[in-house]
Amino acid sequence: MSEPFTVAIDGPAASGKGTISRAVAERFGFGHLDTGLLYRAVGVKMLDGVDPVAAAQALSRADLEDEARLRGAEAAQAASKVAVIPEVRAALVDFQRAFARRAGGAVLDGRDIGTVICPQAEVKLFVTASAEVRARRRYLELKDKGSDTTEDEVLADVIARDERDSERATAPLRAAEDALRLDTSHLSIDEAVAEAVRAVAAKYKAN
Ligand code: DC
Repeated sequence: MSEPFTVAIDGPAASGKGTISRAVAERFGFGHLDTGLLYRAVGVKMLDGVDPVAAAQALSRADLEDEARLRGAEAAQAASKVAVIPEVRAALVDFQRAFARRAGGAVLDGRDIGTVICPQAEVKLFVTASAEVRARRRYLELKDKGSDTTEDEVLADVIARDERDSERATAPLRAAEDALRLDTSHLSIDEAVAEAVRAVAAKYKAN
């Protein structure tokens, strides 16, 4: 099937939405766009002295390539700061919407996909977990990569980002009314992926 089919997956930092999104995309053969990476790329440009609005308007694929830097804690905080600027968000809308309607299906993960970018998405998931569980996951990931940050520092980062993402005026982090909520606090990765796959399969077959 080559019709567009959009899966919107939103949730806070380290909720598991990235892992779930990649798994769903692979399972159904859909394209996957991690929209956080766009904001991270703009954030990194700001750290390098570029005006964030100009950076968002001129963003190119090459800006998304330095994954090591884009995935770091500094880029995450910078992303969350540029993400409050309405002009930055506006500059990234068309690219995300075009990706969402690509032939063959698309999974987009972020904060405002089901509410603002793709309110018509065929499937909407809102993935959550407690701040402590999310901080623990992110801490273990960072430790694995050789980082020496403490779990408390990661928790403080997660809470600061949650607040900024949830309280901004434009497109704040919140679940769409018709989103299926998936709390992964007590689920294994396999269990969380299985639930998401079930939700998508139910709608995909019907289309
Ligand atoms: O998903 P992530 O942790 O890579 O996102 C980094 C930041 O980018 C996040 O703190 C808020 C912002 N963001 C956003 O505002 N809207 C999105 N759709 C995705 C990310």
